[in-house]
Amino acid sequence: MSTPKIILICFILLLSFSTYLHAEFSDQSFEAIEERIAPIGKVRIGKETLNQLSTYKIQAHLGKTIFEKHCIICHSTGIAGAPRFGNKLDWQLRIKKKLSLLLEHVKNGYNAMPRKGTCLECSAEDLKAAIFYMTKKSA
Ligand code: HEC
Repeated sequence: MSTPKIILICFILLLSFSTYLHAEFSDQSFEAIEERIAPIGKVRIGKETLNQLSTYKIQAHLGKTIFEKHCIICHSTGIAGAPRFGNKLDWQLRIKKKLSLLLEHVKNGYNAMPRKGTCLECSAEDLKAAIFYMTKKSA
């Protein structure tokens, strides 16, 4: 192969490599830059964990709010035999029940507990969050 041909081939190779590099780094959006400079493995895990964490936080906050507004009246001191908040002994057998059964009991009322635990405007999701909060803090 003659020298000019070799030079030409080298030049073409160099040109295509620089085009590839340019395409790889040409996205100048904020996210793209953030992603490029983020430590390896952090971006994907970080975003998912953050999403889960915020969902969990919202649920925990909702549960706490509903509990403090509607359920605490009976469940703090154990009025009419209500399992007391934070009392492991009161809750240990109830916690073993399925969440769906606990939810049914709260929705429909259960012995001395009135329907929906007096929170008539609560949705099933609201009640679930309150039950989750109560059982989590009493386990
Ligand atoms: C008027 C009082 C009262 C209020 C208000 C009340 N509860 Fe209760 N709750 C009870 C009593 C009493 C029991 C025990 C019933 C039994 O086991 O005989 C009970 C039991 C429960 C149980 C256990 C059910 C089971 O299957 O063992 C859950 C869960 C529960 N309450 C959640 C809630 C939630 C959530 C709220 C608020 C939205 C609430 N309660 C409001 C009186 C109340």
